[in-house]
Amino acid sequence: MLLGILKETGTEKRVAMLPGEVAVLKKLGLEVIVEKEAGEGAFAPDSAYLKAGAQVADRNNVISGSAMLLSVNTPVSDINNFREGQIICSVINPVENRNWLESARQKGLSVLALDIVPRTTRAQSMDILSSMATVSGYKAVTEAASLLPRFFPMFMSAAGTIKPARVLILGAGVAGLQAVATARKLGAIVEVFDVRSAVKEEVKSLGGKFIEVEGAREDAAAGGYAVEQTEEFRKKQQDLIQQRAIAADVIIATAQIPGKKAPILVLQDTVKSMAPGSVIIDLAASTGGNCELTQNGKRILVNGVTIIGKSDYPSDMSTDASKMFGNNIINLIKIMIDREGKIVLNLSDDIINGTLAVHGREYISARVRQMLNL
Ligand code: NAI
Repeated sequence: MLLGILKETGTEKRVAMLPGEVAVLKKLGLEVIVEKEAGEGAFAPDSAYLKAGAQVADRNNVISGSAMLLSVNTPVSDINNFREGQIICSVINPVENRNWLESARQKGLSVLALDIVPRTTRAQSMDILSSMATVSGYKAVTEAASLLPRFFPMFMSAAGTIKPARVLILGAGVAGLQAVATARKLGAIVEVFDVRSAVKEEVKSLGGKFIEVEGAREDAAAGGYAVEQTEEFRKKQQDLIQQRAIAADVIIATAQIPGKKAPILVLQDTVKSMAPGSVIIDLAASTGGNCELTQNGKRILVNGVTIIGKSDYPSDMSTDASKMFGNNIINLIKIMIDREGKIVLNLSDDIINGTLAVHGREYISARVRQMLNL
């Protein structure tokens, strides 16, 4: 069975699979065809793919020859070139790409949406959102450290003692926890806000201080995710964040609520109360940002405070992000492949059922149906 790897478009530097992972697919009995220069942004030349046993071809040949196609971002402009029965495996953003998904359904494509892999223990090794959030959390802290005109760790030098930097982390999901761990490794003092009490112990075990705001709404039916908060809670939380922000050198904002606009946690006044030279990295920028002043994809300076709105750090760390992406896909393929090396979509498997956005001209995943109000 031939599996195709597409070259990404636009500014994306990742590739769905690096040569090292292609070699693993070959061992699983799959043949691989890679679009010319697909790995360039991640420093993987065509020669490395050839060495790993893949063929290299132009986009049309990759698309026409493959039974299954892999890409990082939804191959939006290729929809008319795909044919009935092909499997497309990519991040889909079902709400944003609703029309594309409907065309894919009508054409009879099978779409595995990597961003909706169920968040269960069994599916953890296939969880691309977690892998990419890990990259973002790390990269946000290292970028903040390089921009801050101060040290992260405490320094006892002949020139006197330098105090450690203080980092405030908003949201302790996968990215936030990685940010806690990275900032602690660099020697900073770390304080954390989240609305889910379950993360309190994790924050503490990583060496962060969890700041509790009483009265947070939690919903067991939200599958481990946060839910929107009351106006009263929001006000209380914003006030407490303002108090902690005055003492902070860096804020890493990661708070999100699936399917909703990100909560505003850092008000304009809070930014004004921060010391000039401080840095805010807003990873929630693509869903509106946690800081009132964040501009998605931009770096701005307000009263000496640098605010970076950035949700695409994984592309900047293209080699390891691609490696993680490819490994997650391999783990998904392992539960789909039969003894003859053929991909079989078993709808009674909860991971396949939960990840298949469309198949057989129907919407399959309950999560996608819910996201699209179907
Ligand atoms: P996310 O990106 O949706 O949100 C990031 C964080 O922001 C969350 O911790 C959330 O509670 C927090 N947040 C939302 N509103 C907030 C507010 N107003 N103030 C402060 N914080 C706020 O979350 P992510 O990283 O996708 O993970 C969320 C959870 O999903 C994990 O902690 C875990 O429970 C679950 N999960 C399960 C996995 C598995 O079992 N395979 C894999 C990954 C995540």
